[in-house]
Amino acid sequence: MSEAIAYERAGDVAVLKAQNPPVNALGAEVRKGLLAGIERAEQDGAKAVLIYGEGRTYFAGADIREFGRPPKDPQLPALCSRIEASPLIVVSAMHGTALGGGLEVALSSHYRIAVPSAKMGLPEVNLGILPGAGGTQRLPRLAGTEAALEMITSGRHFGAAEALEKGIIDKIEEGDPRGIGLAYVQELLEQGAPRRAVGEMPAPDAVDFDAAYAATLKKGRGQLSPATAVRAVQAAVEAESFEAGLQRERALFMELMGSDQRQGLIHAFFSERAVSKLPELEGVEPREVVSMGVIGGGTMGAGIATAALLADLPVVLIEMTDDAAAAARGRIEGNLKGALKRGKITEAQYDRLTGGALTVATDYAALSQADLVVEAVFEDMGVKRDVFGKLDAHCKPGAVLATNTSYLDVDEIAASTSRPQDVIGLHFFSPAHVMKLLEVVVAEKTAPEVLATGFALGKRLKKVAVRSGICDGFIGNRIMNAYRKAAEYVVLDGASPYQVDQAVTGFGFPMGPFAMGDLAGLDINWAARKRRAPTRDPRERVPRFYEMLCESGDFGQKTGKGFYIYEEGRRGGVPNPQVAGLIAEDQEQQGVTPREFSDAEVLRRYMCAMVNEAAKVVGEGIARRPLDVDMVMLFGYGFPRFWGGPLKWADLQGLDGILADIRAYAAEDDFFWQPAPLLEQLVAEGKPFDDLNKDG
Ligand code: 3HC
Ligand code: NAI
Repeated sequence: MSEAIAYERAGDVAVLKAQNPPVNALGAEVRKGLLAGIERAEQDGAKAVLIYGEGRTYFAGADIREFGRPPKDPQLPALCSRIEASPLIVVSAMHGTALGGGLEVALSSHYRIAVPSAKMGLPEVNLGILPGAGGTQRLPRLAGTEAALEMITSGRHFGAAEALEKGIIDKIEEGDPRGIGLAYVQELLEQGAPRRAVGEMPAPDAVDFDAAYAATLKKGRGQLSPATAVRAVQAAVEAESFEAGLQRERALFMELMGSDQRQGLIHAFFSERAVSKLPELEGVEPREVVSMGVIGGGTMGAGIATAALLADLPVVLIEMTDDAAAAARGRIEGNLKGALKRGKITEAQYDRLTGGALTVATDYAALSQADLVVEAVFEDMGVKRDVFGKLDAHCKPGAVLATNTSYLDVDEIAASTSRPQDVIGLHFFSPAHVMKLLEVVVAEKTAPEVLATGFALGKRLKKVAVRSGICDGFIGNRIMNAYRKAAEYVVLDGASPYQVDQAVTGFGFPMGPFAMGDLAGLDINWAARKRRAPTRDPRERVPRFYEMLCESGDFGQKTGKGFYIYEEGRRGGVPNPQVAGLIAEDQEQQGVTPREFSDAEVLRRYMCAMVNEAAKVVGEGIARRPLDVDMVMLFGYGFPRFWGGPLKWADLQGLDGILADIRAYAAEDDFFWQPAPLLEQLVAEGKPFDDLNKDG
């Protein structure tokens, strides 16, 4: 018997207990154990089989680490068919998260029971595949085609109550899985309940599969797995037999298994978990944080305060005047009302969070008890230094003092206090209570436990926290500035901003750089450009059309006009006809003869600029590993998850081709297109970025 599955007889019932921590993933040993368990039960006179999981969950799915390796027998589809074919009554008792292949094992059982807190789902599409062990054939037979399509293409988790209502499980019972499972098996045996195989049930009803396919493809912005899953469900309806449906599902599953998108999504899954695991944090205890301070209640401060309140951390927010304090409170209440509307909090929580849990004040003395303070005042070194001087005077010893600065030097900010070891950057993204990314910026003197506290806060706020060193723009904004520049260069040279935005959304980004500029407010970047202008290298090409647009008072969505024109009541914008004139004027002034670009070339330059700057960020040690950059771009900048991140994408494309293109572009502009030394080194060694992710 395999150690991953324990076999026990309880009277007439053979009990198969999965013991493969942490999540009872269905690796080869578990599959072997289940097969052996079923066979043994059939041989030793048992009347029924109970399957359940030890520890925190029933099977959470196939073992993702096995993907891409040669498959080992017994494979999951065959195992599921074998379970279903057993002459004994097979019952699954679920708790924790019965996901993917886990739920498929349960669907192959003849009866299903779950504890009320159990969550289920077929989340395979999120890994770039589809349920490949009968899930697309069995779920529609139980829940109906419409419901199954929705569940499989979204990959969402659903609760036991919904599963019962949709006919996916038979019973909900409070208790431990073994206890409720055995009682249920006993009940079934006493009733003389028949063996009941889902695969023997009639095929489900047809729907308009072509329409469902097209809608799913559009929703996925180019992600293939959900749309392909529609075709698999279609086979449940249209295939000649259940067996033929399974075969179709298998073929589609294998097709996706071989795709780049599967590699990208699995990279994202593991990187999301690896990103906060840093050797320098091992054994370092974070400081306790039970209350937070926030300085400045503008866009960011209000968002950060909202995020803290939603994580049940009381907040003291300091503003400059009573009016500004009242406005800050209004913003936070507005954010929390949104959370209430979306069902994230209850009325009672809303009252508590906006009442006792939130204090707004103008006097820094109110911060005396705060364990961690995040500063989000104007982006101005003088103002920041002044604020940190005050924090130094008023905060208790050991309080963590954080800045949300986007670009300023955290070392210089830290130097304005007598305790630079307690200072750190916590760079949130707007809207801070929604965006998942948190850059944790380590300054020269930041103490290890302060860094650990930054990561612990990120976890508490349910953010993806990424370590960054100090440079202009840290990891994300620095890379964004590079690819935004590349976008402006192609426009100066002849592409239109709309072509760029279209090429970029075609790749899977929710927005292109010009629409994004309009959304964020063109004036914000304009101010940064003006700030940088005096120190700009004379070799840098400087497109002017962006500034020209700002000079005419058009700042994007906030003024109703930017690269696009925004009309009241209309989603999105239409191209602003004035922009072409400004670009033509810029070209004339700079002596540029515009040329045509294909969409592919526009995109290639955009991506090459992103990869090249990302390689510099890793090479300089600003990001520890390529995966850190990938997670920043995924969670802060809308990079399509199915490509895994820019450096995973680069690996999949081949680094030599990317370097060759960068060198070719350098023939036109050898200042901007300087190849990253790390990229050159990897190409010379014939290695991918991914090799650098393996150093822990
Ligand atoms: N295979 C291998 N390892 C897995 C795994 C899986 N299916 N699911 C989780 N793990 C690992 C994680 O990588 C993590 O490892 P680490 O501690 O070394 O970082 C550990 O288990 C704990 O996972 P989490 O940190 O994510 O724990 P949570 O409690 O936050 O979440 C979970 C638990 C909800 C089960 C979450 O891990 C999850 O969503 N897992 C993936 C579930 C899934 O997608 N299943 C479908 C797989 S594909 C499939 O079944 C194909 C089939 O149709 C043929
Ligand atoms: P904002 O202008 O909306 O808000 C700043 C707030 O700080 C104002 O309400 C102002 O009254 C207050 N303030 C200024 N000086 C103060 C002082 N001495 N004491 C108390 N309050 C003071 O600015 P925003 O956009 O919220 O940005 C704040 C910081 O966050 C900046 O450093 C910015 O670079 C950074 N940031 C901004 C992002 C964005 O998308 N807006 C994203 C990430 C970081």
